[in-house]
Amino acid sequence: MQPDNYEHFKTLSEKRYSVRDYADTPVSKQQIEKLLDTVRLAPSAVNRQPWTFIVATEQKIKEQLHGCYSREWFQSAPVYIVICGDHSTSWKRPSDGKDHCDIDIAICTEHLCLAATEMGLGTCWVCNFDARKCADILSLPDHIEPIVIVPIGYAKECSHTPEKNRKPLTELIRWEKY
Ligand SMILES: Cc1cc2nc3c(=O)[nH]c(=O)nc-3n(C[C@H](O)[C@H](O)[C@H](O)COP(=O)(O)O)c2cc1C
Repeated sequence: MQPDNYEHFKTLSEKRYSVRDYADTPVSKQQIEKLLDTVRLAPSAVNRQPWTFIVATEQKIKEQLHGCYSREWFQSAPVYIVICGDHSTSWKRPSDGKDHCDIDIAICTEHLCLAATEMGLGTCWVCNFDARKCADILSLPDHIEPIVIVPIGYAKECSHTPEKNRKPLTELIRWEKY
């Protein structure tokens, strides 16, 4: 990677934050398709790509989803993307059976959040929702799990990025051994 591209990625990483207040401005189906066309390039274990993106844009379905995560700010988003993992196709590590579905979904979710930031859109990971209720609303078969809901839209206050509260690198990095 060229140094200037690296700076671009660093700036993008700094710019992305959890948006918890969305403007009324709509997000088009074309924008969502453009985003997801990039997100599908994310890596996955054994390239299984065990993901489905359920895009909720209609008022009726959005209102039902509000019942899965009852925070007022959540209701302000114009679109929700429910990122579902397919446990029937996700890779299980032969040595211990570990299902890599969550890892794959986490990777594509963060690709989505970064790509959306690049498009000027705000997002927030939401995992603290009622997954059973969500699966019922979306008529998911048993092997498909709703893992993350990403509200997406224009941030109401997009003029500044909140300061990152992160552990210092010195606390995280260890060379050679734990
Ligand atoms: C796996 C995961 C689950 C999360 N679930 C929620 C959630 O349910 N509700 C919420 O408001 N934020 C949720 N977040 C957002 C985090 O609180 C947020 O990323 C973290 O505080 C760092 O802030 P930043 O995203 O603004 O940099 C989640 C983030 C991750 C990665």
